Amino acid sequence: MSNPHADACVFVIFGASGDLTRSKLLPAIFNLAESGHLPQEFAILGVARPAIDQAEYRKQMREQVRQAEGEPLEPEKWKPIEDRLYYISGEFSDQALFDRLKATLADIRERHHIPPNYLFYLAVPPDLFGKVGDALSAAGLTSEDEGWRRVIVEKPFGYDLETARALNAELRRGLRESQIYRIDHYLGKETVQNIIAFRFANGIFEPIWNRRYVDHVQMTVAEEAGVGKRGGYYDKAGALRDIVQNHMFQVLTLVAMEPPISFGGEDVRDEKVRVLHAVPPLTHDDIARHVVRAQYEAYTKEANVDAHSRTETYVAMRLFIDNWRWAGVPFYLRTGKRLPRRVTEVVIQFKRAPLMLFRHTPVNALTPNALVLRVQPNEGIALCFNAKVPGPFEKLETVTMDFSYDEHFKAEPSTGYETLLFDAMIGDQTLFHRMDMVEAGWQVVTPILDEWQKDTRSRLPVYAQGSWGPSEADLLIERDGREWRD
Ligand code: BG6
Repeated sequence: MSNPHADACVFVIFGASGDLTRSKLLPAIFNLAESGHLPQEFAILGVARPAIDQAEYRKQMREQVRQAEGEPLEPEKWKPIEDRLYYISGEFSDQALFDRLKATLADIRERHHIPPNYLFYLAVPPDLFGKVGDALSAAGLTSEDEGWRRVIVEKPFGYDLETARALNAELRRGLRESQIYRIDHYLGKETVQNIIAFRFANGIFEPIWNRRYVDHVQMTVAEEAGVGKRGGYYDKAGALRDIVQNHMFQVLTLVAMEPPISFGGEDVRDEKVRVLHAVPPLTHDDIARHVVRAQYEAYTKEANVDAHSRTETYVAMRLFIDNWRWAGVPFYLRTGKRLPRRVTEVVIQFKRAPLMLFRHTPVNALTPNALVLRVQPNEGIALCFNAKVPGPFEKLETVTMDFSYDEHFKAEPSTGYETLLFDAMIGDQTLFHRMDMVEAGWQVVTPILDEWQKDTRSRLPVYAQGSWGPSEADLLIERDGREWRD
């Protein structure tokens, strides 16, 4: 059976000379073509500021995609893409660019027999979202009278609750919610999507996925890298906005949500947003006691970072989800840059066995069962349980049953954008943020941001590069008689 095809369309990238286009979007299109998911009636139009011609753009992209793929591009695979790759340059503030865009789109469609379906990708800073949206609609490119028109926007979606709402209002001037695809590249990760399959395609986990059996949940998004060249952006964002409000909350909602009534976009997103609505608002005292921020040593010496910056490069926090399933179960979240290694994982830690029948092992010496969802790297799922050490019945040891994606599926490498682009092309919004979810995420973190902004004096914990963060984060979990799983 052949692979399902995306709808015939023109994929228009604003910001087509940027890093995202080179390292993710075009390689993802290349991979989609290679796996047979693109229709014949398809083309790409890059829009950006550099005043280069189409031949030069094609040449540059060929080289960049080759680098991203890490191997020479087989001409018979790359050529069909290159033949459909177009470029126009101009200023996004100039309406004339959008009139030219419209004319170019008509040409491209005619040449490749493509119906008037356009997928616009705004790989541009958020302050341009509204401008580009308005200009597209002024050029008549957002009305769906003939074909479909969809717009993908990159994060960050807002700076807090108020700015997110304002940004949305700008986009909504010319677009309906069903046309807006707020992307979160975490939802493109197979392992994140698999959380749904793991929970709801298996009968044995769901009955124990609740407060009766789960002691607590830990989520870690650790990065070895620092802020690199993105100091300017990062110093204004910080870890809470950059990772927690979007990526971590997306994973959290998949782990904690109720079974949806269907896997349709609205049903899944309804359940996800309910999880965030069930997080009780954090008070001043909660924030002081259960949220830790810190900065890695010498962060303020990074390029484009304010020398007196108090921006956090690390956050640890404890949250509750006040619903029937999770009441009383703490969710510990931590993320940071310049930690010992890159790892994203969720640990569902189960309650201990109620009593110990084994003479030589006291109950508190036994490691409780844990289910580890390894999002990256070494993608997989592990179940940790206790087993008898061979020999006289004296000793128990914790062992692991491990499933590895790589070993089992031997999947082709991917950028993580393939599924997301494909879904946008078939009009499936399940893996994209709906506006109420964006707001719910901001509602949880905005009180923290407000507290931090007010507090300009207290000592900001600093952690050594390559460590697991500040001692305050250990205290946060140890106070509850638990510990981080490193
Ligand atoms: C991005 C953040 O959204 O995600 C970066 O802006 C972060 O700061 C990156 O490094 C992490 O993504 P991944 O896929 O490497 O875990």
